[in-house]
Amino acid sequence: MLKIGILGCGRIGQVHARSIRNLDDARVVAVADAMLPAAEALAAKTGAEIRTADAIIAADDIDAVVIGTPTDTHFDLIQGAATAGKAIFCEKPVDMSADRIRDCASTVAAAGVPFLTGFNRRFDPSFAGIEARIREGEIGEVEIVTILSRDPSPPPLSYIASSGGLFRDMMIHDLDMARFLLAEEPVQVFAVGSALVDSEIGRAGDVDTAAVTLTTASGRICQISNSRRATYGYDQRIEVHGARGLLRAENQLENSVEVATGAGFRRAPARNFFLERYEAAYLAEMRHFVDAVLSGKPPRPSIEDGLRAQLLADAAARSLETDLPVRP
Ligand SMILES: NC(=O)c1ccc[n+]([C@@H]2O[C@H](COP(=O)([O-])OP(=O)(O)OC[C@H]3O[C@@H](n4cnc5c(N)ncnc54)[C@H](O)[C@@H]3O)[C@@H](O)[C@H]2O)c1
Repeated sequence: MLKIGILGCGRIGQVHARSIRNLDDARVVAVADAMLPAAEALAAKTGAEIRTADAIIAADDIDAVVIGTPTDTHFDLIQGAATAGKAIFCEKPVDMSADRIRDCASTVAAAGVPFLTGFNRRFDPSFAGIEARIREGEIGEVEIVTILSRDPSPPPLSYIASSGGLFRDMMIHDLDMARFLLAEEPVQVFAVGSALVDSEIGRAGDVDTAAVTLTTASGRICQISNSRRATYGYDQRIEVHGARGLLRAENQLENSVEVATGAGFRRAPARNFFLERYEAAYLAEMRHFVDAVLSGKPPRPSIEDGLRAQLLADAAARSLETDLPVRP
């Protein structure tokens, strides 16, 4: 039985608590949140105790922590939890700064504690299926990966201002997916971007529409298309073109009914956003973390995967600024 403390009882902390409730070899022992009502609500749902984050990190009756607090708090919590010998499941991005992620990676390595970076999309059954079929050689050598990733609508401007920008906040998931599917490190990043959805996002110094091309040393290419708006729901599609064929995962729709009339074919919108679209992925991600920690195997994606994705996001931001291809 893995005894877990949840740090941060907001949107993602609640998702992870629900996943843990679905596992019979893991239990939420305690929850912490800077806002007491958030902790109380999750404690009521899980039957866990309310403690402070520091008390959870120091507790003898807790083996692992799930860090689901805002990104700028991850660093201190990782340092504390690693030093206290806790296994760590940390939401993405690990931190906004690659140097600080390196510091965390050193602490985690010195402490020898298991660490998972929360790139949940690797656990989506369709995307994991694509990766498995690539490795089984079903389409031969990978040549071009296309990732289409568009949110239904932009977050509030207040969020944009502190988000670290589209590449570090949103595209980071796609940059990790690119590494996962290419299985080779990109050596060049070229980014273009605009504020087409909301000019206020542009005035805040960010973009809401972006395309990035990644190239690996052997010449494999990945194209990522991001938008902060999609009128038809949360648009999450992947296509991998290889020497002997194609693997493709389409959007998941709210239902599978199709209407055909003389006016044409009509289907439901895509599932609305990440909580619904990636429900199965969040559960599989937690299943993997618990299995890995209980069996003494390193969980994946690792903190190094968190760092690599961050370096690609930093390179994309630099490429946009300079209008030039950048080496990550
Ligand atoms: N993998 C994913 O799909 C995914 C989705 C959403 C968010 N995230 C990541 O998860 C993290 C949290 O995002 P969210 O959307 O759940 O935010 P949120 O604002 O909904 O929840 C964060 C919670 O943490 C609490 N908190 C703040 N500082 C704290 C501290 N020092 N100790 C304890 N609690 C504290 C807040 O009161 C809040 O309840 C971010 O890093 C975000 O990037 C990942």
